[in-house]
Amino acid sequence: MRPLRKPQAGSYVITYSISSWEPELSPETREELLEDLEGGRVIYFPELAFSFSEEEKAFFSPYWSTEKAKNISFDPVHGQLKGTEAAGSRRELLASLLGRFASQTQRLIRRLFPSYESGLEQGRTSFRPVEIQGRAMSVRKDDSRLHADAFPSRPTQGKRILRVFSNVNPEGKPRKWRMGEPFAEYARRLLPRARPPAWLEPWLLEKMGITRGRRTLYDHYMLALHDLGKEDEGYQKQGTREAFDFPAGTTWICFTDQVIHAADAGQYLLEQTFLVSPQVLRYPDNSPLGILQTLLGKPLV
Ligand SMILES: [Fe+2]
Repeated sequence: MRPLRKPQAGSYVITYSISSWEPELSPETREELLEDLEGGRVIYFPELAFSFSEEEKAFFSPYWSTEKAKNISFDPVHGQLKGTEAAGSRRELLASLLGRFASQTQRLIRRLFPSYESGLEQGRTSFRPVEIQGRAMSVRKDDSRLHADAFPSRPTQGKRILRVFSNVNPEGKPRKWRMGEPFAEYARRLLPRARPPAWLEPWLLEKMGITRGRRTLYDHYMLALHDLGKEDEGYQKQGTREAFDFPAGTTWICFTDQVIHAADAGQYLLEQTFLVSPQVLRYPDNSPLGILQTLLGKPLV
């Protein structure tokens, strides 16, 4: 049998030749996947494509997203669709498309990382039909700048952000990513410039409805690193360690709170977010929470 795992020297991206959303994996392969994922690698499946039905191909148009939202998002738990003005049967079809991606990615993650089962929570599903190249936005929202993900209004309170991406571009356009330094280097470099939260700040943010739930010290520092890194022009010019183009018809997974990434170009992407509780991690010291707690010398959640 040919090996499933194909690392490339010096690359963050580890290729696995898996072509099913419900793969049968040996315990050895599952162990390798876990090590790669928690080691801050991008797990790349060049042979795993998400397919659209003929009817669903009508959604290959930026027309379906609202001017303000850019992304169409779906809450798989409540079946709610946001960021689109699609109505009637079109809306139902779009919801069922996103719901199918949500259930396929959930089955995939369960097969790849069964040890996460008890600490796994499914977040939003999103469809990104707008070309990202040349999109005007504020520095902090600009994802073509290197960053690790941190949510300003939805604190994760120590939970990890695990994301599954499928490039579904019908014209064969790649999704262009760049990746930066390992998370520990990023944290060591930026943390001295991060100020602690003001007294009562997390409480006020929650009270005023700016955050949904309490912004813990972990959320505070992750957001500070995100903003300081995006605002650092010198770092943005020189920080790229690797560029990688994900071709159309491929899928990839990573902890986006750990992999320093930037997306430069691409259109038509499906993305599913999962939150992973720190209790189920195999290598918690290697997680952003573990690294930040060591650097600051105190518990952050
Ligand atoms: Fe991101």
